[in-house]
Amino acid sequence: MVTLLENPLRVGLQQERTPEPLILVIFGASGDLTQRKLVPAIYQLKQERRLPPEITIVGVARRDWSHEYFREKMREGIEEFSTGIGAEEFWNDFAQGLYYCSGDIDKPESYQKLKAFLGELDGRRGTRGNRVFYLSVAPKFFPEAIKQLGGAGMLADSVKHRLVIEKPFGTDLSSAQTLNRVVQKVCKEEQIYRIDHYLGKETVQNLLVFRFANAIFEPLWNRQFVDHVQITVAETVGVEDRAGYYNSSGALRDMVQNHLMQLFCLTAMEAPNALDADSIRTEKVKVIQATHLADINNLENSAIRGQYSAGWMKGKPVAGYREEPGVNPDSTTPTYVAMKLSIDNWRWQGVPFYLRTGKRLPKKVSEISIQFREVPLLIFQSAAQQTSPNVLTLRLQPNEGISLRFEAKMPGPDLRTRTVDMDFSYGSSFGMAAADAYNRLLLDCMLGDQTLFTRADEVEEAWRVVTPALAAWEAPTDPASIPQYEAGTWEPKEAEFLLNRDGRRWRRP
Ligand code: BG6
Repeated sequence: MVTLLENPLRVGLQQERTPEPLILVIFGASGDLTQRKLVPAIYQLKQERRLPPEITIVGVARRDWSHEYFREKMREGIEEFSTGIGAEEFWNDFAQGLYYCSGDIDKPESYQKLKAFLGELDGRRGTRGNRVFYLSVAPKFFPEAIKQLGGAGMLADSVKHRLVIEKPFGTDLSSAQTLNRVVQKVCKEEQIYRIDHYLGKETVQNLLVFRFANAIFEPLWNRQFVDHVQITVAETVGVEDRAGYYNSSGALRDMVQNHLMQLFCLTAMEAPNALDADSIRTEKVKVIQATHLADINNLENSAIRGQYSAGWMKGKPVAGYREEPGVNPDSTTPTYVAMKLSIDNWRWQGVPFYLRTGKRLPKKVSEISIQFREVPLLIFQSAAQQTSPNVLTLRLQPNEGISLRFEAKMPGPDLRTRTVDMDFSYGSSFGMAAADAYNRLLLDCMLGDQTLFTRADEVEEAWRVVTPALAAWEAPTDPASIPQYEAGTWEPKEAEFLLNRDGRRWRRP
């Protein structure tokens, strides 16, 4: 067997290394993400001894907070959203490395002040000029923050300075291209870490291992054996208090262009030459380049949108999307999207990939299911009604695992078949809960490994695929024409029809 692991240049997706001492500078430090995810992730990584003692965090936001107040807020976040503080001594040591620096995103003085403060911390904490700047601010502030950081010379060192950009990266193809230009003006691609937190999920990374570390699946992974693929990311939550953001975004921008497209790429891509960031990302880009909505001339045959109407979730009545606080009663923003994608390449020609995502669906579940072709000739005539094709399901969350559905003979004198499942579950095989995606992503960024971050061309190609739907759905529409689905049900009937028309049905996970 040939192994690429001996060559350090060809290895990505690896751990066990410790980052250099550095300062993580979080813009938007008074926001939810910092308190719920980012600082708890760093705390856990430190508890696991994956970070050097010098690691320092500087929160930046407009509010006039003191270091002490920032520390208190972060402590609350770790207590509420993570595994807790643990030993008080450990927390005290961690808190010593937490600082706050108020500033305005558009004022050059703020960046000068921050720069001087970071320089001072280098001396105090031994962080050697290494910086990771994390943009956790509203997307409309990305260009300004990037320009200012560049203008202040804070991204000038392509080895010591890194920039993390949260999603969404642009709101359409042209704004993503513009943002890429802005960022590429002040730093090199190897300094840029575009986040898609789905790539930090263990089960998503396992897709590569499942496909490329096992010899038996790959020969089946093509048009000869696969009938179609379904990718589902269903959520039970509604828009909640995010109407401001969500109403101008909707499911296509919020979920499909990024999370679902990433799942799609990892399922459909060719084997990379190696596991390093660029080999993997190049294969992802290649497969998206060959991908398009199945019927570009008749959008309703390949992209369906929907909105949840009032319904019931877990026995409680819930409001419809247009009745949610802060949502325009005439809103046409989709909370559900289903798509049929085609890939023009040798592996997948003629195999549809159906993607769907929505809020207020009956279950929180993310899965990829590979539906295999029927047997060429069914010799069990009497059992014909009972057989169904094989299905391989990768359960990404919850109940993480993989199952293979096949036919088995039911015990007894008659030849009757039944569909059964062979199941692998992360919980029972590994006996440990997967870490939050942000733990992995932050660590990788600090280590300088870009494998799990999206490259400029990848983001742009993903926007290109969804552009026909985006363009059509942006056009003024009669709100009454937007397909509705009752909260707590699976999809609008139009989305059912998308598959029924092909003689197929959505899975009910
Ligand atoms: C975020 C979206 O990127 O992903 C949210 O903005 C969505 O709308 C969330 O709820 C889903 O993430 P997860 O990890 O809970 O599946």
